[in-house]
Amino acid sequence: MRTYFPGVFEFHGRPATKNSVPGLTVYGERTFKQGGVEYRAWDPFRSKVAAGIVQGLRRFPVTQDSTVLYLGASTGTTASHIADITRRLVYCVEFSPRMLRELVPVAERKTNMVPILADARQPQEYRHLLSKADVIIQDVAQPNQTEILTKNMETFGAKAALLSIKARSINSVRDPQKIFKEEVNTLRGKFNVLEVVDLRPFEEDHVLVNLTAK
Ligand SMILES: C[S@@+](CC[C@H](N)C(=O)[O-])C[C@H]1O[C@@H](n2cnc3c(N)ncnc32)[C@H](O)[C@@H]1O
Repeated sequence: MRTYFPGVFEFHGRPATKNSVPGLTVYGERTFKQGGVEYRAWDPFRSKVAAGIVQGLRRFPVTQDSTVLYLGASTGTTASHIADITRRLVYCVEFSPRMLRELVPVAERKTNMVPILADARQPQEYRHLLSKADVIIQDVAQPNQTEILTKNMETFGAKAALLSIKARSINSVRDPQKIFKEEVNTLRGKFNVLEVVDLRPFEEDHVLVNLTAK
């Protein structure tokens, strides 16, 4: 099968991951079998990371050996695909008890997902649970997304991150392109920004920023 990246397969022009728990689906995604292996279609309309991959992301930080800290895991749509890619743990931080309640049964079956009820703005709330992360994926729709990422990168010594920026969470009236420019400039002061991918047509007014620690 063709791949976008190691562990991210391409099926009819869309990404898919090898289902680490065959028979388990998380958000009603399609599954299919190739050579006796079950794959889960990774829906770019439901996942910004999948949208970024379809829109031409050139480098992907998560490998089978990455410990991942996922901020804003919600009910596990994207985090469950990340848990298919890595053999290591995916720490899933979510501050809404209602979302986490739906994530817990998924994590009971996908045992490398660790649900954490905590506020991503306060990494000290969960630093007793993990000392280090290789990659951070952040999708929290908060106004101070850059500050949250910086704190978490520093606390957990992460080397790489994928950050989803939603213009409307920063300012609901200003031109999104101007907001992205300012945010990316701020990020450039702290990180190496590798690429900025516009998520249209899958998500309006969102970009996915791929970056590494300086
Ligand atoms: C757009 S959704 C994430 C969707 C998810 N990334 C996916 O693709 O499956 C944003 C989530 O971030 C959570 N969130 C927002 N602010 C947060 C914070 N400060 N700490 C933790 N979670 C937060 C929200 O409750 C919501 O579930």
